[in-house]
Amino acid sequence: MKKILSVVITLAALAAPAWADEPASVERGKELFNSNSLGSNKKSCATCHPKGSKLQRAASYDDKRLEKIVNLCIVTMLKGNPLPSDSTDMASIIAFLKTLAPS
Ligand code: HEC
Repeated sequence: MKKILSVVITLAALAAPAWADEPASVERGKELFNSNSLGSNKKSCATCHPKGSKLQRAASYDDKRLEKIVNLCIVTMLKGNPLPSDSTDMASIIAFLKTLAPS
């Protein structure tokens, strides 16, 4: 009984950050795209890709490819730290980029 309880507590502790986070969303992705919080040089994604212009083609890339490009732009263009691939922020940015696909 004690063992089960400690397993449950451990699981709850591990899962807590995920519960605490807001779910990934297009709105959050858009906010990040327009904010200078991802880097250290006061630029945002929108500085070079205003309103996501010219990213229509990229909107159809698969998630893995987008993830690599997003982190490349964060590191080289924004002088920031790459986002973990399983982070809510990365998922949100990818979700936003996908909305740029031509309909
Ligand atoms: C200093 C300018 C700059 C900043 C800031 C920047 N990028 Fe880029 N980005 C580029 C350049 C240059 C390319 C490669 C040429 C192109 O496709 O426009 C590129 C390419 C891309 C592509 C691939 C486009 C394609 O057609 O293959 C995506 C997606 C992208 N950037 C997303 C982002 C995101 C998301 C951010 C913010 C985290 C960001 N970029 C910040 C300059 C920038």
